[in-house]
Parts: sequence; structure tokens; C-alpha cells
Amino acid sequence: MLELRDIAKQWDHRPLLAGVNLRVAAGETVALLGPSGSGKSTLLKIVAGLEAPEAGSVWFESQDITNLPPERRGFALMFQDFALFPHLNVQDNVAFGLIEQGVPRHSARERAKVMLERLGLGEHTEARVWTLSGGEQQRVALARALITRPRALLLDEPFSALDASLRDQLRAEFRNRIQAAGMAAILVTHDEQEARAMAQHAWGLQDARLVSLW
Ligand SMILES: Nc1ncnc2c1ncn2[C@@H]1O[C@H](COP(=O)(O)OP(=O)(O)O)[C@@H](O)[C@H]1O
Ligand SMILES: [Mg+2]
Repeated sequence: MLELRDIAKQWDHRPLLAGVNLRVAAGETVALLGPSGSGKSTLLKIVAGLEAPEAGSVWFESQDITNLPPERRGFALMFQDFALFPHLNVQDNVAFGLIEQGVPRHSARERAKVMLERLGLGEHTEARVWTLSGGEQQRVALARALITRPRALLLDEPFSALDASLRDQLRAEFRNRIQAAGMAAILVTHDEQEARAMAQHAWGLQDARLVSLW
């Protein structure tokens, strides 16, 4: 269980988040909807540990992780501009997180290959990432996020750069992967259709507070 308790954050003397509470169970995806500038990304960064809340706390499995640095939370993040490494091939992009965790290079690359095959990218392991299509690059980003077995997955408008048919396909794929991996996931989006396709519950961020939508 991932839990936010009474999170508060201001920006420019304006409350961006005021008393935000949220619970996400393992294997569950919760969508966070709201207009541009409403604070969705800020809330996700607080969960990730990239920004500190002014008040309130972040909990994971009954542990207060508010002051834990991002790399020790075991969460994976995926943003719209997924920031793959252009100088590495597909397989090395995916292996990167494992190598960082101390997995020997050879077995990291082997595991990356298996994950890429599972996501239908087995043909592209040696390719430079910038030669892939947008959808393929987004799958590489998913492979990179999943391979470290994150405890939670934080998605910030992950598909906004893609065309409609590809978005539909990836939404279903991501939903299945998240459920199979048993992760807690938060999906930030301004697209209600996307929220319906992927999440079991949705909250709207309005006037710095979360309102339950469904
Ligand atoms: N570090 C920052 N630099 C500039 N603006 C920020 C920063 N943090 C928050 N803001 C402002 O806070 C508001 C909410 O931003 P954000 O969380 O990115 O909203 P959303 O993701 O819902 O579009 C915006 O008005 C944004 O300009
Ligand atoms: Mg945003």
C-alpha cells in the first residue's frame, strides 16, 4: 500500500496541494486527473521523492518514506519525454537500471533481452533508440521501468506524444503489466479516456484537493 497523508505544498504563495490524502493498493492503478497547472506533476514528484512536501507524509507498506531519497524508494518513473539514453542501444538502455543496482553487466544484459522479448521488442535489442518509432520507444521505457521490479510505478502523461491507435494499444498493455507485476501505480493524465482504460479509481485535483471521481 502506497499512502499520502495530508500532503501540502505551495507555489508562489498559492496552495498547490492542501491536505491531499491518497491510498493505492498493490496491483491497483489510480488515475489523477486535472487541468494543466493544477499540481498533478508536483504531487507525483513528491511521491517519487524528487520534491519534498511542506507538510504531510508519504508511506509505503507502513513505513514513513517522506525523507527517503528517490533511489532508495524502489519506485519507477515514466514521463512523457521518456529520456532514453541516445548513446546506448535498446538492450543497454534496459540493462542500465540493473547495472546501477549492482547486477553484473552480463546477466543484466541477459535479463534485459528477456524483458524486451516479452514486450515484443526482441528484434530491436541492438538498435539505437532513436531509430525506433514513438510507440517502440515507449515500450523500451516500460521495459526499463519494469526490469528493476519497482514497488510502485509513477506515470506522468506517458502516452501524450503518441497517436491515438498506438495509445489504445499501449494503455491495455501497461494495464496488464501493472496488474501482473502487482505494483501500485499512479497515472497522471488530463485525459479521462486514458484514466478509464487504465485505472480502477480516479481522483480529480481541484483547488489543491483531491475529489473522488469514480
Ligand atoms: N519548480 C517549479 N518551477 C516552475 N513552476 C512550478 C514549479 N513547481 C510548480 N510550479 C507551478 O505549479 C503549478 C503546477 O505545476 P504542475 O505540478 O506541473 O501541474 P500539472 O502537472 O498539473 O500541469 C504550475 O503553475 C507551475 O508553473
Ligand atoms: Mg504535469
